[in-house]
Parts: sequence; C-alpha cells; structure tokens
Amino acid sequence: MFTNRQIAFIGPGVMAEAIVAGLIHQSVAAPENIMASGPRLERVEELQGRYGIKPSTDNAATAHQADVVVLSIKPQRMGQVLAGLRDVIKPQALVLSIVAGATIEKISTGLNQANIVRSMPNTPAQIGEGITVWTAAPSVSSEQKEMARQILAALGAEIYMEDEYYLDMATALSGTGPAYVFLFMEAMVDAGVHLGFPRRVAEMLVAQTVRGSVDYYEKRDDPVHLARLRNQVTSPGGTSAAALYYLEKAGFRTAISRAIWAAYERSIELGRGGKAHPPEKNAGKEA
Ligand SMILES: NC(=O)c1ccc[n+]([C@@H]2O[C@H](COP(=O)([O-])OP(=O)(O)OC[C@H]3O[C@@H](n4cnc5c(N)ncnc54)[C@H](OP(=O)(O)O)[C@@H]3O)[C@@H](O)[C@H]2O)c1
Repeated sequence: MFTNRQIAFIGPGVMAEAIVAGLIHQSVAAPENIMASGPRLERVEELQGRYGIKPSTDNAATAHQADVVVLSIKPQRMGQVLAGLRDVIKPQALVLSIVAGATIEKISTGLNQANIVRSMPNTPAQIGEGITVWTAAPSVSSEQKEMARQILAALGAEIYMEDEYYLDMATALSGTGPAYVFLFMEAMVDAGVHLGFPRRVAEMLVAQTVRGSVDYYEKRDDPVHLARLRNQVTSPGGTSAAALYYLEKAGFRTAISRAIWAAYERSIELGRGGKAHPPEKNAGKEA
C-alpha cells in the first residue's frame, strides 16, 4: 500500500511509535518509507534503531518529502509546529492528525493545506487495542481516506464518521473512556481488598471479570442488549439484585451520563481554544 509513498511522523512519541510498530509488523509500510522528526536526536535515533526508519530533527524538511504527514505532537506544541510547517507540505499530500482537540479548520488554516484527516485514538492504541474515530475534510480523496484508514488501523479498531462534530463525542466516550474504566476497576479492587482479598488477587479477579464480560458480550453468536446480560446474572432477591439496587440508588447511571457530557462540553471548549481550568471552577453548575 505504501510502496513509493513516504509517511512522516512529526512528534516521535509514544503514539507515533505505536503506529510505526503496527505499520511495520503488519507489513503495511516498509521502514524505508517512514520518517520521524522531533527535537531530540537520541529519540529519533532510538526509533531508527528499533524499526529502521529515517530519523530527523528538521520537521519542515521531513514533512516536505512526505505523501502523508502524521501530526503526533502534544496539543500544547500544535501552534508552534503548524507555524513551522506552513506552506511546506506538498499541496497534494495528506495531513493526518491524532492530536486531541485540534480541529480540521485550525490545522488547515495553520498549515495552509486542505487535505486534513482528524482522528481521536485512545490509550489502548499503545498496544494496538485502541479504537479511533476519524473524519476527513471534503478535499481528501478516497485513496487518501484509505491510506488514513490503514495507518489508524495500526492502533486497533477505527471508525470513520462523516461529520467532524462526532470527534468531540468520541473524545468524551472512547477517548476519555479508559479513565472511566480504570476508575471503576480501581473502585472494585479497593472493595475487594476491603472484603479481605490480597490486593494482587483482587486485581486479577477484577481485570479478568472486565475482560471476560466484554468478550462474553462481543463474542456471542446472537447479538444481545447489555440489559439482558445484566438481567441474566440478577436472580430475584439475590446478590446482584442487592448490589444493583444500591448502584441505582447512588445514581450510578446519572453520574456516568453527566461525566461523559462534561467531557464532551470540555472537549468543545478546548477545541475553541478555551483555557485549562481547575475542575472546581465548574462545580455546582450542574442542575
Ligand atoms: N497517549 C495516548 O494514549 C493518546 C491517546 C489519544 C490521543 N493522543 C494524542 O496523541 C498525541 C501524541 O501523544 P503521545 O502520548 O504520543 O505524546 P508524547 O509521547 O509526548 O509524544 C510527543 C512527541 O512530540 C515531540 N515533540 C515535542 N515538540 C516537538 C516539536 N516542536 N516538533 C516535533 N516533535 C516535537 C516530543 O519530543 P520530546 O519528548 O523530546 O519533547 C515527543 O516525542 C497527542 O496530541 C495526544 O493528544 C494520545
């Protein structure tokens, strides 16, 4: 797929490495077709040593040679990096951003470049188990969309959405999602320790319960609503009924729903250039 096409990573960090590893291990691209540029020579040389890709500390020179430029810097570096790449990228090249919150308009205006794909991966992408929601500017060709799909597939599952507004929703649901899951798991582990399990045993019980439940849900022959699976483990007057009654009474669903909505609003706010603020500033604003 990427024979005779150069992919340049601007920002050679954890996510760039996850994509590079996926592309090479899945034979989607060869090392000689991949370049990575960042401020520290030792880091890009580390990637060269591991994967055989071409290292550079010159963003502009690297991006100029590429058919696909992947922006994988931190959001705080975006302004500076876009300014350095303005009018440098080939007009027919594709720019694929994995930077949280950076809108197509912001990238396009900053670079003076029309062909932009914006994506929102999540943390499990680092082990190829992520899910990425992505969208493309109108000028992106179907061939470029296919290239974007293949690059993002190196991080795990990917879902294309026609409209960019889904990216803020994805940020709140799947992008931030691992934080909710880890908090839920942490609370379960602590409860297990409270009951009397050694912490390591409680961690194993919780991790395998979550993993097994997801597999049981997804790997069934007959697709089923989650509520039905929950009902299956809820016998009248039993332990699940007692626990679920307490969770509902404590507003578990409402807390989850409001948390995801808060993340959604914050994503929109940050996309508009809203300043970071301590969470307590918004405390008490909810109904
Ligand atoms: N990590 C995740 O699970 C995750 C999930 C979803 C989305 N994302 C998005 O993915 C992007 C990258 O995240 P990450 O976790 O890979 O971050 P990271 O490991 O910190 O990588 C960022 C890289 O950019 C380099 N860099 C800094 N300034 C630069 C510049 N001026 N030009 C070129 N490179 C520069 C950094 O080099 P130094 O180390 O030398 O500063 C570092 O190698 C972020 O925008 C984030 O929003 C990440």
